[in-house]
Amino acid sequence: MNKYLKILIYIIGIFIAMQFITINKTVPQLEGSLDFMEIETPPEEIATLIKNACYDCHSYETKYPSYSNYAPISWIIGNHVQEGREYLNFSTWGEYQTEVKKDLLYNSYKQIGARQMPIYTYVMQHKEAKIQNAELEKFYTWFKQQSDKYNTK
Ligand code: HEC
Repeated sequence: MNKYLKILIYIIGIFIAMQFITINKTVPQLEGSLDFMEIETPPEEIATLIKNACYDCHSYETKYPSYSNYAPISWIIGNHVQEGREYLNFSTWGEYQTEVKKDLLYNSYKQIGARQMPIYTYVMQHKEAKIQNAELEKFYTWFKQQSDKYNTK
């Protein structure tokens, strides 16, 4: 057999094998009263932005795109979601201590202001997650204000 054909078959084989390593998309039962939206009650405009731009990685309400079924893309997405939830999970917001809430809100303010969040590659795939220049300041300022509310000292 042609050497290159062999290599090609080998690569295809690996690719097929990769598809058997799937990511875990199951989540715990949602508890509405712990949700960020319930507790922080952002104005509708801000709430929509947060849902569109953050919830896929930072909550249990992830909407997976169809391409998330294929390795290795699925692994990258799975990783983002897992890591995102570890850092900040809006679905279990009510479980954070006051101090942590304050810091997470402040960090969100920083991250959004510096355009670090939402992650660039995600925004390329999700147009509704793009924060327009006109709304950027209003958006991150809201996080700062919310953070200040928890500033008890
Ligand atoms: C594509 C997935 C994804 C999206 C969308 C996303 N994040 Fe993240 N976020 C992550 C990951 C992964 C990390 C941890 C690693 C890092 O900092 O890059 C993170 C980290 C953070 C942190 C740092 C937490 C800390 O205190 O150290 C904050 C704050 C944050 N994100 C806020 C947001 C906000 C607010 C949005 C929406 C405007 C958002 N993120 C959208 C994946 C995402």
